[in-house]
Amino acid sequence: MCGIIGYTGAGEACPILLRGLRYLEYRGYDSSGIAVFNGTNIEIIKKEGRISCLERALAEAEPKGTCGIGHTRWATHGKPSDCNAHPFVSYNSKFAVVHNGIIENYLEIKDCLLAGGAHFRSQTDSEVIAHLLESLFGGDIRKAILETLSRLKGSYALGILCADEPGKIYCVRKDNPLVIGLGDNGNYICSDIVSLQLFTDRAIVLDNCSVACVTAENVEIFGFNGEKKEFQIVGIERHGDADKLFESYMLKEIFEIPESMRSAASWYKYARPLERIDKEYLKNLRRIYFIGCGTALHSGLIGAWLVRRLMPGIDVHAVVASEFRYDNYEVDAGTLTVCVSQSGETADTLTCLRMVRAKGGKVLSVCNVKTSSIAHESDYLLNTSAGPEVAVASTKAYNCQNLLLALFAMDLAVARGAISEDRRKIYWEDIVQLPRKAEECLRLDKAILDFCIDNFRRKCVFYLGRGQDYYTAMECSLKLKEISYIHSEAYAAGELKHGTLALIEENVLVVAIATQEELIEKTVSSLEEVKARGAVIVTLTPFTGEKGLRAVSDALIPLPRTDEIFYSVLSVIPAQLMAYFIARAKGCDADKPRNLAKSVTVE
Ligand code: G6P
Repeated sequence: MCGIIGYTGAGEACPILLRGLRYLEYRGYDSSGIAVFNGTNIEIIKKEGRISCLERALAEAEPKGTCGIGHTRWATHGKPSDCNAHPFVSYNSKFAVVHNGIIENYLEIKDCLLAGGAHFRSQTDSEVIAHLLESLFGGDIRKAILETLSRLKGSYALGILCADEPGKIYCVRKDNPLVIGLGDNGNYICSDIVSLQLFTDRAIVLDNCSVACVTAENVEIFGFNGEKKEFQIVGIERHGDADKLFESYMLKEIFEIPESMRSAASWYKYARPLERIDKEYLKNLRRIYFIGCGTALHSGLIGAWLVRRLMPGIDVHAVVASEFRYDNYEVDAGTLTVCVSQSGETADTLTCLRMVRAKGGKVLSVCNVKTSSIAHESDYLLNTSAGPEVAVASTKAYNCQNLLLALFAMDLAVARGAISEDRRKIYWEDIVQLPRKAEECLRLDKAILDFCIDNFRRKCVFYLGRGQDYYTAMECSLKLKEISYIHSEAYAAGELKHGTLALIEENVLVVAIATQEELIEKTVSSLEEVKARGAVIVTLTPFTGEKGLRAVSDALIPLPRTDEIFYSVLSVIPAQLMAYFIARAKGCDADKPRNLAKSVTVE
């Protein structure tokens, strides 16, 4: 959702900006650009397309200078093109600006600026910021920035250069992430803390509604009212392979699932997160909302299923964040809201969190980035501990989210007396086996894979399941469509016949997930219905000996056995792999699917 990088120091800015942009590309990859102060003026180079396009342009004419800002874009207003790429320069070339977010009142501001003679070169909302700064500038840059901010409505993280103050980067955070990196050879601004580990191990996570002035040696932070703010320096966790570039992050991350699960389980075991929550509050809980977007929502659906499964007496709902925020869901002292988010920055989920807390409700977040806004603003945290996830399609974080939600549901059930201590011990015996079982799931048979790749070359694929398998089917289907562009739908197996069965015809591919032992016969009946209409069926199941399943399926993918509450952690793995290999067979870039971004920080 747009990535921002900035550097000011003793080194050449361009190579540093480019390196940062490569790691921020997951936030958008429609176009990119840089602005560098070259000693006389601000030089801008920007290009439509991937960072490699910018790289080629810079190889021909690299601006020389030690202070600059860069941007990688995910288009909201205006199609991907050179002129809609950031940075934007103001009409007298005094200011250059990069922006992540949305300026909601940009048309109004644009009209005023046009009337004042400003000339616009793009269709974006962001360009108004550069011109507004210039039009409000009377010699004092800070004053111009604060006056500009008072006129903007919406969400924004900004990086600003001013030709009058070489060596300084101003940056702003309002409802979009921004961090400042402190290095030995200069300082940085960046959209995420994980990418900063490329350059340094110390950072300042900028508070919401703050402005910072960053020079090579110094950082000064003030609020939107102009008052100076204190700040804290935090350490940046380093990850061994941060500096390597991988051919496919998605494949790498799928193969990291077992290790990530070990980390998540071990984090949970030692952090004992439920012990931080008031016991009476847990006992008296009446309602739980699970909130998220995309893959995180699917994890929330699993969370809701687990709570229903393990304990009676709680009203549970899993709700799409962008719907929750505009609906009248009741929140009171007996409500817990669980916000699930890999990045911890998804705008819709963050807004729900703030709404819930404003109503006096408590929030538990399940986040993979513990310095993120959602993790920071929550009452309690389940640290997904999956390690950085770079590929746009979420994989290992999802498995760990589900694992942590199973642990949470299990401990909640114990706290409420719904299951015994002994039962919990038995569950832990299963949990320690899960990473090894995840490794088994990664050993997908080559013949089955080839069979799937052949059959997936169809115009539509259906994923079917009952109970929790239905939610797994939703995640499998999302994985396939987001990276391979094959149309796919997930259905509760019993619901297909109420309309969608009309779409089943000869050779349509149906993938069934069948981990719910007591529902196997019912699932077989649904599969018979699609088989009778000519569907080709691939079934993922731990019950490979079941006669009915064997007879109806064209191919069976075996899953290891575990307790039913942990199946969602495993059953998705072969589907994650299949989606990846199908995308690859179709020649798609699985890491950076078209039109998507990993972290969606706008509504
Ligand atoms: C984007 C990504 C999805 C992701 C969703 C939620 O849409 O493309 O892969 O599931 O955001 O992200 P979050 O960081 O909140 O889990």
